[in-house]
Amino acid sequence: MKITSICCIGAGYVGGPTMAIIAQKCPHIKVTVVDLNEERIAAWNDPDVNNIPIFEPGLSDMVGEARGRNLFFTTEVEKGIDEAQMIFISVNTPTKTYGLGKGMAADLKYIELCARQIASVAKDNKIVVEKSTLPVRTAEAVKNILDNTGNGVQFQILSNPEFLAEGTAVEDLLNPDRVLIGGNDAQAIESLVEIYANWVSRDKILTTNLWSSELSKLTANAFLAQRVSSINALSEVCEKTGADVNEVARAIGMDSRIGSKFLKASVGFGGSCFQKDILNLVYIAKSYGLDEVADYWEQVVIMNDHQKRRFAHKIVQTLYNTVSGKKIAFLGWAFKKDTNDTRESAAIDVADYLLLEQAKVAVFDPKVGEKQVRYDLAYSATNELSNIDKNVTVYQDPYEACKGSHAIAVLTEWDEFKNYDWKRIFDSMHKPAFVFDGRNILDAKKMKEIGFVFSSVGSAY
Ligand code: UDX
Ligand code: ADP
Repeated sequence: MKITSICCIGAGYVGGPTMAIIAQKCPHIKVTVVDLNEERIAAWNDPDVNNIPIFEPGLSDMVGEARGRNLFFTTEVEKGIDEAQMIFISVNTPTKTYGLGKGMAADLKYIELCARQIASVAKDNKIVVEKSTLPVRTAEAVKNILDNTGNGVQFQILSNPEFLAEGTAVEDLLNPDRVLIGGNDAQAIESLVEIYANWVSRDKILTTNLWSSELSKLTANAFLAQRVSSINALSEVCEKTGADVNEVARAIGMDSRIGSKFLKASVGFGGSCFQKDILNLVYIAKSYGLDEVADYWEQVVIMNDHQKRRFAHKIVQTLYNTVSGKKIAFLGWAFKKDTNDTRESAAIDVADYLLLEQAKVAVFDPKVGEKQVRYDLAYSATNELSNIDKNVTVYQDPYEACKGSHAIAVLTEWDEFKNYDWKRIFDSMHKPAFVFDGRNILDAKKMKEIGFVFSSVGSAY
């Protein structure tokens, strides 16, 4: 089937950027992105393209070029489904917060709703593409719903997991390492291959069976997260032994078998994928009785939780075992630089811990506003003692955030933090002025020359 009309359900961090690139690269295809969230769709349609709801370098230009031409954002979900030959499902699949599999299994209610909606609306044959990260064999459940509740039309299911990373989404979509398409029907697979072949060379488009494709996505995220937890585990050893984790990472990364990427020690990984996907893998392994496999991967998450707690604990310990009433400035709230996404950000857990110790937390992030910070904390707060309303202040100016603080914690690796007037910041702080660099981005030597008591992750400063 030559595809001329696509619908994507879900205008989030995956659906939005992916469809913008498909529309930009395939002017002959009409791409309609639908979402139930009216506010989000309104933002995607904002006349000022800089106000689209997702911040990604280069994305607003892409959207500006295709929007209104062959890229459309709408809340008319049913119309979008009806008109499309191919439907991408890009809805969220958070970890379950209730019932069986609570805290581990992926919550598939949004996926199921989508499948039921597609089945009830579709009047002609359609290809349904899973874009969201899903447990292995979800395609089977989707197919089952479609076939049993539909109008007798034919559905082909494909798995096409997205490997883009936030902050580099546009670049990753334009030049992917690979595109993965899993399916059982050669014609349906070829229809999707043809779309990507408009800008990706065919040797980078891999086709597999459905289950391999679904499992590859979980495996890729598990391996990446495992590398971060591995280097973070070593960062603690470095702090005790006098080794420097940056030097160790460089030394091992030059071994071509290991490679240099994803070896940056940090306050801990965040983002909507890593933890969720590993827990999902752990749940799948457990449900097949593979306890050793489950324990092996669960340790990656346990290590990450430890790293976040350890960072917060170090702040308390260094500040003479009490942060009660002390202003601690957070530089960064997003889970990584160049994104406004805060899901599972390490900053949230560190703040939660310090608030329980009665600290006054002052937050500045170049792309995250007050509403989001308060939402994140209200959702995660483990104890009402933390008194978020009173003890958290969100600033629009980094110098104001740091002024009068006892300590600064760098939680996100935004480039601009490196270029601040650190002498000015030092002069405005209580002394001794402490800096805890949770991202190893600041120049330790210079910071110490200014007078800071400086500590980073994975070295014995
Ligand atoms: C990840 C995968 O990279 C991507 O392929 C998948 O599609 C979605 O999940 P993302 O979560 O957007 O992407 O960002 P990523 O760059 O992988 O970073 C995840 C977390 O790990 C961030 O908090 C980041 O700061 C942290 N990290 C990453 C480190 O602490 N050290 C590193 O060396 C690399
Ligand atoms: P991701 O990072 O996976 O893209 P997001 O949470 O950013 O996740 O985006 C998922 C989007 O899917 C949300 O905007 C949500 O409103 C939308 N969504 C969820 N279920 C449905 C549905 N049944 N129909 C339309 N949109 C949906």
